[in-house]
Amino acid sequence: MAENLGEWKRSRYCGELTAANIGAEVTLMGWVQKRRDHGGLIFIDLRDREGLAQIVFNPAVDAASPNRNIRGQAHEKAHHIRGEFVLAVKGTVSKRPAGTENPALKTGEIEILVKELKILNESATPPFLIEDNANVDESVRLKYRYLDLRRPGLQKNLILRHQVCKVVRDYLSERHFLEIETPILTKSTPEGARDYLVPSRLSPGHFFALPQSPQLFKQILMVSGFDRYFQIVRCFRDEDLRSDRQPEFTQIDAEMSFVDREDVMGLMEGLIAGIFKSAVDIELKLPFPRMSYTEAVGRYGLDNPDTRFGLELKDITALVKDSGFKVFADAVKKGGLVKALNAAGCAEFSRKELDELTSVANSYGAKGLAWVKITTEGWQSPIAKFLADTEKDGINKALDAKAGDLLLFVADIPKTANTALGRVRLDLAKGLNLIPKDTFNLVWITDFPLLEYDEEEKRFVAVHHPFTSPLDEDIEKLDAAPLLVMAKAYDLVLNGTEIGGGSIRIHRQDIQSMIFKKLGIGEEEARQKFGFLLDALSFGAPPHGGIAFGLDRLISILCGAESIRDVIAFPKTQKATCLMTDAPSTVDKKQLDALSLRLKT
Ligand code: AMO
Ligand code: AMP
Repeated sequence: MAENLGEWKRSRYCGELTAANIGAEVTLMGWVQKRRDHGGLIFIDLRDREGLAQIVFNPAVDAASPNRNIRGQAHEKAHHIRGEFVLAVKGTVSKRPAGTENPALKTGEIEILVKELKILNESATPPFLIEDNANVDESVRLKYRYLDLRRPGLQKNLILRHQVCKVVRDYLSERHFLEIETPILTKSTPEGARDYLVPSRLSPGHFFALPQSPQLFKQILMVSGFDRYFQIVRCFRDEDLRSDRQPEFTQIDAEMSFVDREDVMGLMEGLIAGIFKSAVDIELKLPFPRMSYTEAVGRYGLDNPDTRFGLELKDITALVKDSGFKVFADAVKKGGLVKALNAAGCAEFSRKELDELTSVANSYGAKGLAWVKITTEGWQSPIAKFLADTEKDGINKALDAKAGDLLLFVADIPKTANTALGRVRLDLAKGLNLIPKDTFNLVWITDFPLLEYDEEEKRFVAVHHPFTSPLDEDIEKLDAAPLLVMAKAYDLVLNGTEIGGGSIRIHRQDIQSMIFKKLGIGEEEARQKFGFLLDALSFGAPPHGGIAFGLDRLISILCGAESIRDVIAFPKTQKATCLMTDAPSTVDKKQLDALSLRLKT
């Protein structure tokens, strides 16, 4: 029953028609959102990527119309139309009769009186309604992603994504950046995650890695003299997934020569401001606020602080270091911290609510979450009896505690105390609705330490990556006090999400070798893994630095999406699978043989 397109050409998008087009003859093509048969008149909402338009089929024979037979035929055919059929119609844009306008629709003042209809294709009944807010399990949405992507919300997200990419290309091109592609089949660049490996057929037993980022290639492009590089580039990381993490994601990646931190940050602020202006019509105030890593972790527990609300953490270590409450005193003795926050007005929290907060703290490594309810009679808490009155007074003062408040505490090694209470803070804010909507808080986090000590691996690891430059004046501390060496690194945080990070790089071979050594990478291993970088640095590498933004994260925040999956056309599940294509999948033995691979199971 489907008809051919023939000579028909679409003249307009459905969703762009307004009262200004009344009287126009148009040819529209799109999908059937809804059909309403009013006995005589048949109304169809026709959908394309710009929106819906109401098209009307009238059975009445209009003797004056030269198209009367055709019009009758169109109405007859319209009886067979079902949801998601693909139609082409020719007709006249008309004003809707008074009282039938739909102010909720951009096209709500008009309708198209159809003269001719072609049914270009039929459709099976879709497994879910093609509309926003339809209550559909995400696994079903991902299996039928092509239908899911017909929803206006997702179309809007991907259109915005395109716009942002265009702003990026325009802004950076105007500033002499060159877009240069880097390999996808490559050698692994450590960014802290596991690599995706690709076996080589022609070199049996050898593997490519998919890049976790183009980090080393962009640095090498600086050595080659390209001076300013950018790329909107796919990166691959085999890591535990969360709502803001995908195994393949996209970076806006940039690198510049002959610059310092201020140059990179200043130029990139302009880019982010341009994106905000174009995407959501918001003028950001420049320069963005800055906060040192130490301050961020101190006040918010995390180096990606959400500064849209208070509930700040306080350090009460000094107040309880000799406390009768062993949990606190022992943690301090072991070099730990006691961090606290005041959940103002939450003294009425139930046992269950406290248990839920405790399990948040536990999931980030805390051994417990001590709590105190402030009543008019004073402290009500399982730990009250262990603390001296002076300690209680000190804590009350430090936390500005008033009757009706709930105080929460974590005592642990600094990282755990901060992270666990920082996460409790976020959970509380969500539950208490403390996070303002439509607020965009950007903050640069600066003054990161270069290294941290990995307790599990028993070695120093780079806080960013091994190619980040230490502060010039700190290089001499590398041996005596490595944890005090600061990095020329910066992260950009938006509403508590790290949307970008970068640094000035090491451009001298001797310093790069020194850092590898500090990271426990022996000379031989350094040669084997990074020989090409060390060689490149020895041939006149210019001072350089850059940054990479997580495009998916940035777009998802701009769209107000719950997850970055909603701004990626074909995302993976939390288990890194694609439900539409069923990837990853098993392969033929023949394919494995060609790659010299044998499965263990
Ligand atoms: P980094 O590892 O911080 O830096 O990555 C840069 C930004 O990419 C985003 N991002 C992710 N987004 C979605 N899913 C993921 N799995 C994921 N991992 C990271 C984050 C992050 O801020 N080569 C360096 C950059 C540089 O130094 O120039 C790098 O890749 O928003
Ligand atoms: P306990 O003496 O182990 O029963 O703990 C008493 C209270 O202190 C409980 O509410 C625990 O959740 C809490 N607690 C235990 N360990 C810690 C810790 N490291 N930091 C904060 N609170 C803790």
